[in-house]
Amino acid sequence: MKNIAIVAALLPFGALLVIAFFFTVGWERPPIDVQQVGYRGTGMEEPNNPREQAKLVALNQIPPEIYPLDSPADLASAPKAREIYENVQVLGGLPEPQFTRLMAAITEWVAPEEGCGYCHNLDNLADDSLYTKTVSRRMIQMTWNINTDWQDHVKETGVTCYTCHRGNPVPENIWFKDKPQRFASAGMLGWNDGQNRPSEKSAYTSLPVTAFEAYLVGDAPIRVQATAALPTTEGGSTIRQTEETYGLMMHMSDGLGVGCTYCHNTQAFGSWELSPPPRQTAWHGIRMVQDLNGSYLLPLTDTFPPERLGPTGDVAKANCATCHQGVFKPLYGASMLDQYPSLSGAP
Ligand code: HEC
Ligand code: HEC
Ligand code: HEC
Ligand code: HEC
Repeated sequence: MKNIAIVAALLPFGALLVIAFFFTVGWERPPIDVQQVGYRGTGMEEPNNPREQAKLVALNQIPPEIYPLDSPADLASAPKAREIYENVQVLGGLPEPQFTRLMAAITEWVAPEEGCGYCHNLDNLADDSLYTKTVSRRMIQMTWNINTDWQDHVKETGVTCYTCHRGNPVPENIWFKDKPQRFASAGMLGWNDGQNRPSEKSAYTSLPVTAFEAYLVGDAPIRVQATAALPTTEGGSTIRQTEETYGLMMHMSDGLGVGCTYCHNTQAFGSWELSPPPRQTAWHGIRMVQDLNGSYLLPLTDTFPPERLGPTGDVAKANCATCHQGVFKPLYGASMLDQYPSLSGAP
């Protein structure tokens, strides 16, 4: 009798708990689709919520073509941009109609509300006084570099400004270094060394938020297994490096909207023989992002105005989500380069 009374008294709490569950971040209502991505019995499966999937599909469509490109014959007979304009340092080799069409397209992709004036002094289009124009020139070269030198990652699909910008002057997925904090958010626990601070960078886990600096700017080994009993400078991985490795992996899963088994057989995370092919593509992707950050974005630090820099004065940088935006291939693998061949490589 007493037990029944206790259970009855607890029931409302239980009911409240169940209701609270529905509002938990990250909880999604069933049914969930599951797709097998590895051999039977290995548990290599991708769970997907069809309702969230439908939203992602709607968000990741390529925009309509701005207007058709002139025929190859018309382009061949048209004058080159450098014969008409004064200050075309990178696009000078393009036929003039193709140059103008590209200007119209990048306006739609990067600054649809602001228009040509976002990058141009409208009284003199040749003037380089706006930082946005100087940045864009490097962005054009960066896009060519991705599409020619990083085909191990982007294949024939390639990227355009739209892959990252999606109609925003500042892409939605960028990152800055965090300000070093002296105290843990908990207060008295002392130096937290970038851990236990739920952040998008480690997909809201307690893992270190410093993985991007180590692996997407720096080139530290991405390893968890030690090769010696005690951590050494060569070979061994410290607990710290192990946690940073997992921090990066959480971002990669999150940025691509996939689970670990999309790239690993969890029987042996390190084994390349057991890993599905996307892991190799991802390996090249890590090196590509290091190149984008190191060769293009960091050197632009002094070009950006202070309000565009992070809390420690560093420039905005790219990670996997900058292009992927929660999808295993950006824009589900649709290529825009056949419509805009001028971005495939330098003319
Ligand atoms: C996102 C930045 C951006 C936007 C928006 C933009 N442009 Fe440009 N524009 C550039 C860059 C960068 C160059 C220089 C290219 C080079 O050096 O080869 C340029 C050069 C030009 C030039 C050559 C000027 C000269 O004499 O040297 C013209 C003309 C031009 N743009 C027209 C336009 C028009 C028209 C629009 C709006 C429909 C527009 N641009 C929007 C970045 C932009
Ligand atoms: C790999 C992703 C990527 C691609 C592709 C890309 N950008 Fe960017 N872009 C960035 C990042 C990251 C920044 C830095 C964000 C900031 O401005 O603080 C940036 C900044 C800019 C800015 C400065 C905006 C501002 O207000 O500060 C302009 C303009 C720009 N990009 C134009 C372009 C153009 C034009 C192209 C295509 C030729 C292009 N981008 C392609 C990632 C990309
Ligand atoms: C998009 C593909 C991809 C996803 C998703 C992914 N990984 Fe990785 N993982 C890699 C690649 C590539 C490497 C090797 C990096 C290198 O050597 O530079 C790696 C390395 C590792 C290592 C180090 C292995 C060693 O040799 O010491 C571990 C552990 C690991 N991943 C765990 C995970 C976990 C846990 C998840 C899920 C949270 C995950 N990975 C998700 C691609 C992926
Ligand atoms: C500059 C834009 C860009 C960035 C940044 C980027 N990727 Fe990609 N990635 C692509 C494109 C484009 C494809 C599609 C290639 C294709 O069609 O096969 C792709 C494909 C992939 C694939 C293959 C998926 C499959 O099913 O075959 C993996 C895995 C991947 N990327 C992982 C990563 C990881 C991990 C990072 C960050 C370290 C990253 N990417 C950063 C543009 C990018």
